[in-house]
Amino acid sequence: MKTQMRNLISLLLLLLLGLQLSSVFSWKRDEFRNCNQTPFCKRARNRKPGFCTLEAQEVAISDGELTAKLLPKRNQENNPDQDEEQIKPLILSLSVYQEGIVRLKIDEDPKLDPPKKRFEVPDVILPEFLNTKIWLQRYSTETIGGDASPSSVVYLSDGYEAVLRHDPFEVYVREKGGNRVVSLNSHGLFDFEQLRAKKEGDDWEESFRGHTDTRPYGPQSISFDVSFYGADFVYGIPEHASSLALKPTRGPGIDYSEPYRLFNLDVFEYLHDSPFGLYGSIPLMFSHGKSGGGSGFFWLNAAEMQIDVLGSGWDADSDISLPSSQSRIDTFWMSEAGIVDTFFFVGPGPKDLLRQYTSVTGRPAMPQLFATAYHQCRWNYRDEEDVENVDSKFDEHDIPYDVLWLDIEHTDGKRYFTWDSVLFPHPEEMQRKLAAKGRHMVTIVDPHIKRDESFHLHKEATQKGYYVKDASGNDYDGWCWPGSSSYPDMLNREIRSWCSEKFSFENYVGSTPSLFIWNDMNEPSVFNGPEVTMPRDALHEGGVEHRELHNVYGYYFHMASSDGLVKRGDGKERPFVLSRAFFAGSQRHGAVWTGDNTADWDQLRVSVPMILTLGLSGISFAGADVGGFFGNPEPELLVRWYQLGAYYPFFRGHAHQDTKRREPWLFGERNTELIRDAIHMRYMLLPYYYTLFREANVTGVPVVRPLWMEFPSDEATFSNDEAFMVGSGLLVQGVYTERARHASVYLPGKQSWYDLRTGAVYKGGKTYKLDISEECIPAFLKAGTIIPRKDRFRRSSTQMTNDPYTLVVALNSSQEAEGELYVDDGKSFQFEQGAYIHRRFIFKDGKLTSINIPPTGPGKARFSSECMIERIILLGYSAKPKNALIEPSKRQAEIEYGPLLVKPTQGLAFATVRKPNIPITGDWTIKIL
Ligand code: GLC
Repeated sequence: MKTQMRNLISLLLLLLLGLQLSSVFSWKRDEFRNCNQTPFCKRARNRKPGFCTLEAQEVAISDGELTAKLLPKRNQENNPDQDEEQIKPLILSLSVYQEGIVRLKIDEDPKLDPPKKRFEVPDVILPEFLNTKIWLQRYSTETIGGDASPSSVVYLSDGYEAVLRHDPFEVYVREKGGNRVVSLNSHGLFDFEQLRAKKEGDDWEESFRGHTDTRPYGPQSISFDVSFYGADFVYGIPEHASSLALKPTRGPGIDYSEPYRLFNLDVFEYLHDSPFGLYGSIPLMFSHGKSGGGSGFFWLNAAEMQIDVLGSGWDADSDISLPSSQSRIDTFWMSEAGIVDTFFFVGPGPKDLLRQYTSVTGRPAMPQLFATAYHQCRWNYRDEEDVENVDSKFDEHDIPYDVLWLDIEHTDGKRYFTWDSVLFPHPEEMQRKLAAKGRHMVTIVDPHIKRDESFHLHKEATQKGYYVKDASGNDYDGWCWPGSSSYPDMLNREIRSWCSEKFSFENYVGSTPSLFIWNDMNEPSVFNGPEVTMPRDALHEGGVEHRELHNVYGYYFHMASSDGLVKRGDGKERPFVLSRAFFAGSQRHGAVWTGDNTADWDQLRVSVPMILTLGLSGISFAGADVGGFFGNPEPELLVRWYQLGAYYPFFRGHAHQDTKRREPWLFGERNTELIRDAIHMRYMLLPYYYTLFREANVTGVPVVRPLWMEFPSDEATFSNDEAFMVGSGLLVQGVYTERARHASVYLPGKQSWYDLRTGAVYKGGKTYKLDISEECIPAFLKAGTIIPRKDRFRRSSTQMTNDPYTLVVALNSSQEAEGELYVDDGKSFQFEQGAYIHRRFIFKDGKLTSINIPPTGPGKARFSSECMIERIILLGYSAKPKNALIEPSKRQAEIEYGPLLVKPTQGLAFATVRKPNIPITGDWTIKIL
């Protein structure tokens, strides 16, 4: 009896635990494949080091590139898989570009008539980059180290060389004659499944959860190992909800048992710590090490990819030995299809890597100014009255905002580019009312088109044959928000152009110039498709299978939308399009957000490494749904999220339709005040952010950065992904726990830091346990920086255009500081012709000087501004000045003592030059007397 009772209790407990677990882990693991259920991944992971028997033969220079044939070594017995047919050579080419960038391509030999041309991703690499190819004239042949075979060595710029070892085949970049930097196939894991004709008995079909993939071309995967030398950690390959430093996925003591997956998927309630693939994919990895340097590797391939980070000791049984004097991180890359089209970057600094990578895939687009301010979204703002109410409440509560968003319910039955005529009968008037306050609207346009004979878009797309086809050649029909839907074939340029035209004011009836766009579900999401997406055997233009381009589908949709907005304004206005799916190069088309997160503390925390990783992969304009999309945040979590989100490059509050309303004023006066303060901080810092967006646009260096990007040799920063830098001057530490009274903050470097609100000073190079309150999260200005602000309280960023600036001069121990201000018209492309103001401010020898940074391009356009500097706050000035002398005008300005912020937490007083009233244009000097 007793035992029975005990069993019953255990059963109940188990059931309870099960229930609890299922509510914590509502991610539906079973809907998605793991590596073992993915044949190419399983096969690749089972290979042992030394598997590859290819050697490079017929090495030569052709068309300015190093070329070779890769063939299996003859008389090899150690590769039983190799049948006669596989002994077709692969063609290798290695080319060199500016800054020592190496491109390595490996594909089947087209002369041997493979059953099909494998897919090469078009439209990602910049044509300008291709123009920087360095025409190779010669290479040298050397036998390196203890190698039994020769290597061909190509000289790159800046003290680097690329090496092709012939047997076994291996490619690496090394410092001239010395240390290795990054290598491919050093562990002999390279494999390339060549296409072949189907023979009797070949069963290529694959099934997963009732979906059959016909796989008419059979196995065609590629895999290889890549090693990063001098590396303490590797980062990149978004998108995953995981730490910034990638965790080992294979080897002893691993953190994750699955590889990092790159397959654009619409994942319901994703976990906060997982290598599972999310909405976007960028096959780019960088390394970083103590020496302050690192290297990078990019594989231009849009098929499903799985990447292992190999933990030290993973190769304990291997016979292969690599130079042991260098620390190293090994990784293993597997892709279902495509070709090897890879790029190696030498860095060595993290900012060099960003510049090099974005020279290949493009710099982040310069956003319109309004888009860098606060966005208010919800699924859904019900109708025009709701919109009007929300808009006026922001004013009533003195909370600035710039953009109001409409989700799918605003349309006529999820037919995009239409309006629900009952709920939104006057869309133009609604937008005009917002525009009158300097505000904008964003509406959603997803790629699925409702299959409804009376819907003109569907009719047109059907007639023109614009839809992606299923494996039998019919228009693919999948289930999404509107029900039965089809998907335009975005690979096709003509179809992209057709999509773009739909954004014109004539075609998009009810849209006005203040309306911008949100692309969602563009992975693409298909509710009844395998893994909630399109079947891999669906067909695109030219017989390209969906499996070959899956990860780039959303990129193309984003591109078409963004082009559409440019076209509708005759090429005069910068577009704004937010996208959920992305690929390498998406930074050229607009912003990205991290999808459907959840209102809990762990998701607040992981938003930081996710956004940092996007930035490090070129996508600087990124954010997470403030407040968390699913669930109802406690007011404390919501406030903390606003306090952190105010520093995200893309700052938007958003919520699921089943959640309670959560506009900033709904949680009592105190919380409204706290949220207002958080949003207001962002508005004050807009000039600083905009300057950083321009820096990203010119250099690729992201707006928010991990600490180690600014302090690359400080090891204490390497694993820190709870704090981040905004530009090089501002450090922000999130608060990720409930009722936190203290925060542990590491302030790197030898210089000091000033509390952003109070100006209190902290010495660098130390961890502080700080008392914190509900008022704000910790944020610090780095001594030695000058930050431009606009402090006047307005309703939207547009209304701040003519407002005067405040300069905050945070002095270092040598009483010096530097900073920049970039200003343009905030909306047009004129800045590309030089129509901007770019100033460098230098404080030195008791004088603040403003110097022009002249436009670099040939453009002759000019931008002028009447804006003045109304205040200069000196932090850490060692004397007690009384006056300031302005040159060349010889005017004097008063110095008074006041707080750093209008509403300080504590009352430290700083020397403030009052009303110097000097224009932001023109050269001037202010001498502190
Ligand atoms: C998706 C989006 C979410 C949006 C919803 C309805 O879940 O990620 O942001 O609100 O679709 O369109």
